[in-house]
Amino acid sequence: MTDADFRRIARSVQAEFGIFLPDIKRDLVYSRLLRRLRTLGLADFAAYCDLVESGAGLAERTEMLSALTTNVTHFFREMHHFDQLRTQILPPLLQAARNGGRVRLWSAGCSSGQEPYSIALTLLDLLPDASRYDIRILATDVDPQVIARARAGHYAAAERESIPEPMRSQFTETGADGLRIGEAARALITFAPLNLMGDWPMRGAFDVIMCRNVAIYFDAPTQVRLWDRFTSIMQPGAHLLIGHSERIAGPAEALLENIGTTAYRLRGHPAEAPVRSAAERSLA
Ligand SMILES: C[S@@+](CC[C@H](N)C(=O)[O-])C[C@H]1O[C@@H](n2cnc3c(N)ncnc32)[C@H](O)[C@@H]1O
Repeated sequence: MTDADFRRIARSVQAEFGIFLPDIKRDLVYSRLLRRLRTLGLADFAAYCDLVESGAGLAERTEMLSALTTNVTHFFREMHHFDQLRTQILPPLLQAARNGGRVRLWSAGCSSGQEPYSIALTLLDLLPDASRYDIRILATDVDPQVIARARAGHYAAAERESIPEPMRSQFTETGADGLRIGEAARALITFAPLNLMGDWPMRGAFDVIMCRNVAIYFDAPTQVRLWDRFTSIMQPGAHLLIGHSERIAGPAEALLENIGTTAYRLRGHPAEAPVRSAAERSLA
């Protein structure tokens, strides 16, 4: 892989997915993409670059992304956010739902689904008949392969250890073929592939956005635009939960109040500030 090949790959990944590949990642890019070259029977990296840069290269660009990103996740990762959901964030939202309100949560960059299922289990523990109300969790990731795994809701049996009781017994089942997420939790979630760098087709604003351990892949200006974009589709008073090594920066900083470890609340009472229109969004 020549310097020029590496730069072409880095440019392509950044342009389409926002992912920043510094020079230090060169060995990783080489080893992970060499496997793709072999699978495709390509002679060299220049031929691989030609493919991913071509109009017909979309499928391979997605494969390239899967090869270069890590999908590491687990149930109830960074538990403090689930404690916060349980004690602070969800109770008023669920009360609003009981009174006929609409509640929307988004797990953005959900990988193989453990994060949105952890939200759903926490929610069901507080409101077992949640499916009777207008409560939905959207779970998205740029990688269609992990979305398919997430949708299946089927995991290795050992993963059950990360799910606290009584949620584990009540809303999941473990058999000889592994751990299965029960229908009550699955019914609350809509899984869809979505590139955070592209258009967001969702209508309506969110009450909670969890985007954790995703922005670490993006460079600083891309992160700033992402935070700003999130605030533009949050209800006033809504919450944004980010990963342990991520920091809010840029215009969103003034709009978000820090309410705990990597947890933020959009300033303004729900009745006050209207959601910004698409035209007002800086990145729309
Ligand atoms: C390390 S996982 C984080 C999973 C989960 N949020 C957690 O914290 O456990 C990062 C995920 O971000 C996704 N990702 C990377 N770039 C993305 C983009 N441009 N749009 C949407 N998802 C992206 C990857 O596919 C990967 O599944």
